[in-house]
Order: sequence, then C-alpha cells, then structure tokens
Amino acid sequence: MESMGVLRRTHNCNELNETALGQEVTLMGWVLRRRDHGGVIFIDLRDRWGITQVVFNPEVNPDVHTKAHQLRSEWVLAIKGKVEKRPGEMENPKLKTGTIEILVDELRILNTSETPPFPIDEECDVSDSLRLQYRYLDLRRPEVANNLVMRHQALQAVRSYLNASQFLEIETPMLTRSTPEGARDYLVPSRVNAGKFYALPQSPQLFKQILMMSGMDRYYQIVKCFRDEDLRADRQPEFTQIDMELSFMGEDDIIHLVEGMISALFKETIDLTLSAPFARMTYDEAMRRFGTDRPDTRFGLELIDLSDVLKGCGFKVFNTVLESGGVVKAINAKGCAGFSRKDLDDLTEYAGRFGARGMAWIKIKEEEWQSPITKFFSEQEIAAMQQALDAQPGDLILFGADKSSTVHQVLAELRLELARRLNLIEEGTYDFLWITDFPMFEYDEDAKRYTAVHHPFTAPYEDQLDLLETAPEQVKSRAYDLVLNGNEIGGGSIRIHNPEVQEKVFKALGIDQEEAEEKFGFLLQALKFGAPPHGGIAFGVDRLIMILTGSSSIRDVIAFPKTQKATCPLTEAPASVARKQLTELHLRPDWKEK
Ligand code: AMO
Ligand code: AMP
Repeated sequence: MESMGVLRRTHNCNELNETALGQEVTLMGWVLRRRDHGGVIFIDLRDRWGITQVVFNPEVNPDVHTKAHQLRSEWVLAIKGKVEKRPGEMENPKLKTGTIEILVDELRILNTSETPPFPIDEECDVSDSLRLQYRYLDLRRPEVANNLVMRHQALQAVRSYLNASQFLEIETPMLTRSTPEGARDYLVPSRVNAGKFYALPQSPQLFKQILMMSGMDRYYQIVKCFRDEDLRADRQPEFTQIDMELSFMGEDDIIHLVEGMISALFKETIDLTLSAPFARMTYDEAMRRFGTDRPDTRFGLELIDLSDVLKGCGFKVFNTVLESGGVVKAINAKGCAGFSRKDLDDLTEYAGRFGARGMAWIKIKEEEWQSPITKFFSEQEIAAMQQALDAQPGDLILFGADKSSTVHQVLAELRLELARRLNLIEEGTYDFLWITDFPMFEYDEDAKRYTAVHHPFTAPYEDQLDLLETAPEQVKSRAYDLVLNGNEIGGGSIRIHNPEVQEKVFKALGIDQEEAEEKFGFLLQALKFGAPPHGGIAFGVDRLIMILTGSSSIRDVIAFPKTQKATCPLTEAPASVARKQLTELHLRPDWKEK
C-alpha cells in the first residue's frame, strides 16, 4: 500500500459542481465502477456522501493513466486533479455532481479489495444472510447507508427537542431484574453469585418510574431493550426505544408534548410538516370498525356488524355462531364483484391462515345477489344487509362468522390484503392515530387468569376502581398507543402512584403479596415514599425509521441486525463458549447429553 504522504482530502464525493470549475481538489473513496472508453478511463468514486466521476486521460498524464488500468471494484483511492465541466452529452442529471468530472493527475492506491460477493452498485437479488454476513459491504450501498443517516438525523431531532423541553438523559442498568413487559427474558448468569441470573431489560420501565420518585421530573433515554420473542419483520430481539417518563402531567399534556417531538422529527428528516393534534380513537371503536388496535386508517373497507340483522337467519353457519355468542361481520369490497373464483379461493385461503373456518361472499350484481348463500336469506334480511353495507351493484361482500376475537383478526388481515390488492394505499402518506382507553386486563384462556394488556403499573380510571374486584374485564386503563400507517410505533400510560391501587391491580392479576414482593418489592417500597403522579411512553425507533424510510423490514434500518432466527451472520453470534467459562458461571456444561 502507498503512504498517504501529504495528500489531504479537500472535498467529499458529493460536493463538487460547476462553481468549482478549474479548482485543484483531492478526493478519497472507493471504486464503484470502472469504464474504459477508447483509451480514457472513467471511475465512479464513491463515499458515504455520493459519487464523483474521475477521469484518467493518457494525453494529460500517461503514467497515471497506465496505473489506472489495474483499478478494480472497491479499491480505495486518493486522487488529486482538476474540476472540469463534462461535455453536454456526458452530463448525468441524476447525480448532484453530474455536470463535472475530475481530471486526475495524481493517483494513490490506498488499498486493494477482493472481488465482493455481491455487486455494490446495483439492486440485485442477494440473500439476507449473505448481506448480513458481509454487512460492511452491504452498508456501502447508498440505500442502506441513507437509512442510517436518516436514523441519525431522527435521533438528533428527538434529542434536541427533549433537551429543549427540560428532559434529562439518564442511563439505566442493562444487568438487572426481569421487567414487566411480559415477553421472555434474555438472562445473564452471575459468576460471583452462583445460581443467580440478571435479566437484560425488556424496557427501563421500573427504573424510569423510580427516577420520577427520585424527583428527576423529566427523563428520557435512547435505549436498547431485549425481548426473546418470535421474530417478525417488525420485531428484533434487541431493539431501540425512545423512552420517556414525566411527573405531574396527565395524558393530554404528555400526548401534546410527544406530538411536538414526532413533528420535529418529521420536519428535520424529510421536511414534512405534520398536522397536530393527531386523531384519537378509543380501543373499543378501533376494534369495532377495524378489528385491530392498530388500524391503518389510510383507506376504508371498514368492518360492518351484521349480527343483529342476521339473528335467526336461515344460514346455519351464521346462525350457529350467533346463537353461541359469536358475531357476523362483513367488509364491502367496493367494485370487486368481478373477482374470479380463483381470487375468492385465494382470499379464503388467506383468511384461513388467521383462523377463519370459511369466507362466505356475495357478489352484488345489477340483477341479483350472486352467491351460494343468498338463498338462505329472507327479503328483509337482504334489504337490511343492503342498507347496513351500503351495497351497490359491482360490490363484493366478504363475511366472517365466529367468536369476535377470531372475526376481528381475520377481517383485519383481509382488509389489509384487499387494500394491497386494490392498491388503495397511497405511498408517502403518514397517518397518525392515538388509540386510548384500552382494557386494563385480558383473559388468558390457557393460564385461566387475567393478564395486563399494557403492564401492571398502568393506572386504571379512578372512577372504575371498584370494578377492579367485581368486573375487572370492564376496567379501562389510562394507556395510549401511537399508531402510524397501521404500525404500533409507541405505547405508554399514566402510572399508578398509590400503593393501595397498585395492590388492588396485582390482586386482579392473581399476583399475591408474596409474588409481588419478590418481583417488584423495590418499586412497591419506593411508592410508599412520596411518589409523584407520573406517566410516560416509549417509541420503537426501528419501526419509526422503517416507516420513515419506506423500508419493508426493521432490519434495513439497523446497522447490525439479527436474522429471523436471532443470529448474527457477521459475528456468528450466538456461539459456543469454552467449558471453563460455563463452569465459572456455575452452569452445567453437559446439557447436550441430557
Ligand atoms: P411497549 O412494550 O409497548 O411498551 O414497547 C414500546 C414500543 O417498542 C416497540 N417494540 C419493538 N420494536 C422492535 N422489536 C421488538 N421486539 C419490539 N417490541 C416493542 C414498539 C412499541 O410500541 N415500558 C413500556 C412503555 C411505557 O409504558 O412507557 C414499553 O416498553 O414500537
Ligand atoms: P358451507 O355451508 O360450510 O359449505 O359454507 C358455505 C359458505 O360459508 C362458504 O363460502 C364458506 O366459506 C362460508 N363459511 C363457512 N364457515 C364460515 C365462517 N365461520 N365465517 C364465514 N364464512 C364461513
């Protein structure tokens, strides 16, 4: 390799334009492409900022030109030369530097490179695991690199906003105890305390509440959280939260402040002015109209409840469901009466994946309602359905009949699938929606007990405290989620700051005093020493940036993400460890033999 000598970079590869004509400049970067044009060699030199075309002309400098012959993709160069205007037909309007090129008279090869396992300069079909194995090469691609740039800008915008709003950034421990979010923990065995384990935090929930009890008033942290869950496109085992907690504020104050933060983020990153306040909807309304607590409200196709209309109808499938306390709901797919048999079979198969036992349909034709099930309905029932669904000739009605949780899940997914097929979603739109008034508890059929919908420190509405003992399923919590384009990007709540209320909630959850003491004793203790009213929220940074950059997976906005199987192809983590390490940690090294 050659020494850098006194060559110093004067500009990056995205900076120069016609205002610099005639200047002598020095650029450094990677060879993106090399083209040989009748003796003249062109190199696209790339760095994090962009691309500049550099030219080696034998008539200008024969030695340098000869040396340029050996250059290959991804070699690292320093070049010194003069900024020249490109001939008109050679201009590239797609590049910021597209009207100029650098005529090189000094070339230094700073490093060579093996041939990369996939091309950097074009979209090509590379498997995710290969991309992640060579993540450093993958990150040289501008699309991926730009995601990290935007992530940086977003977090800077958040930091400045929160700093200006009197927040303190405070770090909380990574080696801690299990937190209450309810996923599986990542555990770390203790060497010094045999048989004991730390849990990596699923969130800083308890610490941030304790910081309020210590009078910090406004806390934030951009923090890693760890959850051992089944992974999906929007879930990673370690992910980042913008985590906040505030004292002496109600939900409206918190929501207002947070809308300011999200607005600043969108302004600073994509220069978009959001219109705040964002829309709000109760949990009950979201479930009724969309079948989900994170509805994508960029399009219609709402769920219509036909249970009342069809009570006692002649179609046995529906009637049996209704008699056993289930519901019949439908979606009017406007203008889809032309769907083929295959379309309908595909949709039925799709619905089946989410638990549907069938997907009855009716095509509304000018002359008739075409469907195998029309014959079961009376004229009144048809008229009532027509009205409820606003069914017009050309429409297609899709039905779900089952217990309400199944119908909601099925129709919510069908609704999204229809929107995709019908191209109903306008790209580049950002639809924010707060969901409020969640139920405090949901019944876990397997465990035969109530579990917390948010977490056990979420405050119930004061006027419903009595219901905690008598009808816990009716109690609403002071929790709020922020939904963006159908994704849950944040969630939080007003917390319980009164020890007696906390005790009642634990009781409703079937957590007895002993268990509460054992798991959360330190928090319960702190609640007794003058805990201020407080509340907070946490945003999923990765999800937010995924939507902001139009990416389809959160992996695309994380520098070193894990695969669906929670592995890192770059470092090959998780990995085996030496026997000695295991015994030091008081773990039995022979687990395989068992
Ligand atoms: P919650 O569990 O709702 O709340 O998490 C907050 C936000 O974090 C994001 N998120 C994830 N992102 C990527 N991968 C995951 N596995 C993952 N899990 C969650 C989501 C979610 O909205 N302590 C509470 C917050 C509070 O009450 O203040 C909490 O963690 O975008
Ligand atoms: P069957 O009488 O079982 O042949 O069903 C008649 C129609 O009702 C078919 O189109 C089925 O897909 C549909 N169907 C059956 N069960 C359900 C259900 N639980 N929800 C909605 N449609 C159903």
